[in-house]
Amino acid sequence: MTPETVARLRRETPACATLLHFNNAGSSLIPDLVHQTVLDYLEAERRMGGYEAEAALAARLERFYTGFAELLGAEPAEIAWAESATRAWDSVFYGLDWQEGDEVIIHVSDYGSNTLSLLQMQARKGIAVRECPSDGSGQIDVDALDRMIGPRTKLVALSHIPTQGGLVNPGAEVGRVTRDHGVFYLLDACQSLGQVEVDVRAIGCDALSGTGRKFLRGPRGTGVLWVSRAALDRLDPPFIDGHSAFVSGDGFEWEPGAKRFEAFEQNYAGKAGLARAVDYALEIGMAAIAERIAGLAEQLREELASLPGVTVRDQGERKGGIVTFTVEDKPSRGIVAALGAQGINCSLSYARWAPRDFARRHLPEMVRASVHAYNTPAEIGRFVAAVAEL
Ligand SMILES: Cc1ncc(COP(=O)(O)O)c(C=O)c1O
Repeated sequence: MTPETVARLRRETPACATLLHFNNAGSSLIPDLVHQTVLDYLEAERRMGGYEAEAALAARLERFYTGFAELLGAEPAEIAWAESATRAWDSVFYGLDWQEGDEVIIHVSDYGSNTLSLLQMQARKGIAVRECPSDGSGQIDVDALDRMIGPRTKLVALSHIPTQGGLVNPGAEVGRVTRDHGVFYLLDACQSLGQVEVDVRAIGCDALSGTGRKFLRGPRGTGVLWVSRAALDRLDPPFIDGHSAFVSGDGFEWEPGAKRFEAFEQNYAGKAGLARAVDYALEIGMAAIAERIAGLAEQLREELASLPGVTVRDQGERKGGIVTFTVEDKPSRGIVAALGAQGINCSLSYARWAPRDFARRHLPEMVRASVHAYNTPAEIGRFVAAVAEL
């Protein structure tokens, strides 16, 4: 990324001047023009009325579908609005026809809320949840997955970039295996969208969930679901209303595309804002953003690892922008709070959000520092110096 682009990113993100924000895996700083898009939308609702604003700003709302289609290498009709990544993921998981004895294969890095849905379905229907082992690097072992898939395997569900560290799972290699077996592949791309390039056809997944507020730099309370056209008929959406379906004779029909997963009532201002954030990512270029994030995170890992008593906990052959670490004899909670008091934002990573991984690796609570393209090497220096000071 050119210095001019970095300068632009920082200029258009005024909080960069006062904050050191390394909590992009929680929620990143939104650019001014995304903020303004949300305000403009709300102002239109205030002036015109909600339905009238929706009609007047229809093109901005439509950009949600065409923008995500561009970002993901998909078709607009395969995109659905979602209020969060989890609700997008749920729409697919609870839309599969689960029968007793069906199997779902996950990886130890699975996101905690997704794990809970699996356990709920295990209790409800008696499905089996199986864990694919990791390879030596800590990523999902694709050969083992190939051997594990059997006649009862209904779903492979993978957290592409888990919440608790630098690992980037090999999404496309998993896709090759699931395609060979004809097994449904649901990718949790909550941390990936806006952080790395995500092309759904190259990955070969059947459905994908994501959020607006993290690396895409959209507003909170926004999310997205992508379901491939071919996968639509394999799912029975768990919720229905007059937007997603219509009465037909004595029965009903679903809307033809992925809108069948949406509710009528949506956060329209947030949707317009997220569409703008997607355009921003496209303007800057996902390849450049991904390269910058990975480079900054690598620098952060190296500098942290050189401090006495600091253990960097990240795994994976390929690593992204989330850095997790612990400091000997210093509770991570205290570190996050002490840094926060200095205007340095990072977050705590703990077992609730990745229970399998924390249990398996016997992990204590960790500090999670996650960088974005608007962060700088100088900020990394400041962050590491502040940790050393503690
Ligand atoms: C990997 C992963 N999946 C899913 C989620 C859930 O996203 P949401 O809170 O939007 O439902 C998160 C949130 O941190 C996450 O990191």
